[in-house]
Amino acid sequence: MGQQNQIETIQESGYVKHTAVQVSRAEMYEGHLVLVNQANPIKQSISLDKLIPLHTNPDIRLLEEGLLLEKTCLQHFNILLNESQAMNDIIAVSAYRSREEQEQIYETSLAENGDEYTACYVALPGHSEHQTGLAIDVGKIDEHVDFIAPSFPDSGIYMAFKQLAAKNGFIQRYKAGKEAITNISCEPWHFRYVGYPHAEIMEQHDFCLEEYIDFVRKFTYGGNYLTVETDSMLVQIYYVPAEDGPSTTVPILNGDLYRISGNNRDGFIVTAFTGKGQRSHGL
Ligand code: DAL
Ligand code: ZN
Repeated sequence: MGQQNQIETIQESGYVKHTAVQVSRAEMYEGHLVLVNQANPIKQSISLDKLIPLHTNPDIRLLEEGLLLEKTCLQHFNILLNESQAMNDIIAVSAYRSREEQEQIYETSLAENGDEYTACYVALPGHSEHQTGLAIDVGKIDEHVDFIAPSFPDSGIYMAFKQLAAKNGFIQRYKAGKEAITNISCEPWHFRYVGYPHAEIMEQHDFCLEEYIDFVRKFTYGGNYLTVETDSMLVQIYYVPAEDGPSTTVPILNGDLYRISGNNRDGFIVTAFTGKGQRSHGL
């Protein structure tokens, strides 16, 4: 993403201020907050250079070789596994999938499990979060691990992992009670990276991603911001609708660091971080 370079510049210099950036229409389809579901297909494939093999962390147990995740997502997945001390109990079952892989999984599931089951647990090719590199299926290590619906209990180390997920930027994407919105059945094993502090806000409000994307649209530049304040930092979140035409001017609040993500639908979400006193983000 073009603006990622600018974000890096800001992170490095620390003091550069921007008041607005130009963001191309294509960038609406990228970023940690993209909404991918039945109504919002993948419009832009993640470039392969943003995907990192899970085997770069030899402590992660893998169901199969060659699993990949988006770089930041993998960094935080590693931290989450460490914090929950789950390295020896949790196996990474499925991570990034190309459209072709999703097609194959979909067809195999139709043949083996039938239409109804497949509609509940397998996204249509072109509509799977796995194609973003931001989703990972995790399972309990066992003699047999089901590829489509791995066991992930609501107890012990699995519960610890689940409880620490939001703090590390992950949500359980498909929860019980949200089926009518997500169109997918409860999947305790499927975690999606959305980043800090979005996952925590979603958890506090019990929002699924569809609901959160709608909620954020109420906060716009110059109006009220969706705000999270800690002892060391102020985070302000707002939505910028995409303009007609090839690019959008995205206004940026003065601060230490900002991130922009497309919502894969109709605009951009800005997350602006301002340190209080000593700068210690590690974001
Ligand atoms: N299991 C999820 C819905 C997927 O196939 O992307
Ligand atoms: Zn999944």
